[in-house]
Amino acid sequence: MAKTYSQYVCQQCGRRSAAQMGRCPGCGEWNSLVEEIIEKKTSAASHATHSAGLRSTPRRLSEISNEVEERIPVPIEEFARVLGGGIVPGSVVLIGGDPGIGKSTLLLQTTLAMAERGPVLYISGEESERQIKMRAMRVLSPAAAPSPAGAKDGAGESDGVPENLYLVTETNLDVILEHIQEIKPDLIVVDSVQTTYLPQLESSAGSVSQVRETASRLRELAKTSGLTVFLIGHVTKDGTIAGPRVLEHIVDAVLYLEGDRFQTYRLLRTVKNRYGATSEVGVFEMRERGLVEIRNPSEAFLAERMINAPGSAIAVTMEGTRPLLVEIQGLTSPTSFGNPRRTPNGIDFNRLLLTTAVLTRRVGIRLAEQDIFVNVIGGLKINEPAADLAVATAIASSVKDAPVRADTVLIGEVGLSGELRMVGQMPARLREAEKLGFKNAIVPRRLRKGEPWPKGIQVIEVRSLREALKAALIET
Ligand code: TYD
Ligand code: MG
Repeated sequence: MAKTYSQYVCQQCGRRSAAQMGRCPGCGEWNSLVEEIIEKKTSAASHATHSAGLRSTPRRLSEISNEVEERIPVPIEEFARVLGGGIVPGSVVLIGGDPGIGKSTLLLQTTLAMAERGPVLYISGEESERQIKMRAMRVLSPAAAPSPAGAKDGAGESDGVPENLYLVTETNLDVILEHIQEIKPDLIVVDSVQTTYLPQLESSAGSVSQVRETASRLRELAKTSGLTVFLIGHVTKDGTIAGPRVLEHIVDAVLYLEGDRFQTYRLLRTVKNRYGATSEVGVFEMRERGLVEIRNPSEAFLAERMINAPGSAIAVTMEGTRPLLVEIQGLTSPTSFGNPRRTPNGIDFNRLLLTTAVLTRRVGIRLAEQDIFVNVIGGLKINEPAADLAVATAIASSVKDAPVRADTVLIGEVGLSGELRMVGQMPARLREAEKLGFKNAIVPRRLRKGEPWPKGIQVIEVRSLREALKAALIET
């Protein structure tokens, strides 16, 4: 039997120490000691594993079956797409996000739906079983929700509650593993990795060593038994999950649930996925009865738009393989004290500075005494240069108090010389705009002829930001 004990190991130089220290005596690095479990194998034990045939054997590439990974369908389509089409049995998926963004809700809804197929275990270290049950009832309550009275129509309490969903409030990983042995679920949710701990380690729950050890134990189990593991992780202050990206290499996929806490849209984004594309995005809305899928996000994001209002421009951004129309608002207002302010919400700060500089220097719009605010509607974050043109147009439209032509989308990257640059996947963007009833698109001039533009939308090709503004703004 292997004997285990724990030691503090420097993550930089590998030096071991029996006690926690602020600074590694070996390499002098600060805060680099992390508690790890050391397994002392007796020579007999290591011999045994060898003779038991547990050794790996290299195989010819041609001999390895090339069947695609079998996937378990997920009834929540937006979630399934982000996962790459469904759950791969034996995979470990980490779902990160700020506290209160809806991670527990998303996974509870998923487990409620998945429990139809087989036993599912939801392990919570944060909420009691009663609390989870209450949330489940809220999510499962009959679709009569929009009724203003909101009264229960005497529907049976147990309606729609799957028999195969088990809940437990537990934070001790040893006990959790026992529960898994007993229930033999196909899928488990650990909510959250930061509350789960291994008693053998003296570090507190949520520390790098605990989080890493929890994840690797569960991964081992997943790989050997085909159990699928969803780990919930809170994002820490510096924006990473549980410290310095300790989990990202252990798990198969990392998804982030993001959105504005004060807005209802939630985006599920892939950061890493061994079994699918990393650029997919699922769009949800947090409603009274949990997260609702938004199948047509462009339409939702444009719903509250005011037509002909100065300072509003429509961009078409690609979120994964899906084009998304979003409204970008710009507002300029005279600076009252000294330095003009630049306040982007949803776009990169430096990108805004660049766009502002190009507007000033290449187009001749005076912005030095103007505060500038830019807002992407729907709580979306755009980090694609293709939205530059819409951002610049929204700002120019506000300064000049001239609205953007009706039914027009703006797509293109703005270069430092004030030129417009072509962006990828233009036909897909244009088709989406056309589908939503837009009549004109202002895009960069094409230098190489590609596939013809879609028929139903008038494409106006321009060379520079100056020309684009001339085409886009209705100036009186
Ligand atoms: P939760 O899933 O607990 O967030 P996380 O696990 O990421 O911390 O969601 C918390 C928020 O979601 C809470 O502020 C209430 C809101 N909510 C709804 O608006 N509607 C619902 O049906 C549910 C279940 C939660
Ligand atoms: Mg939670």
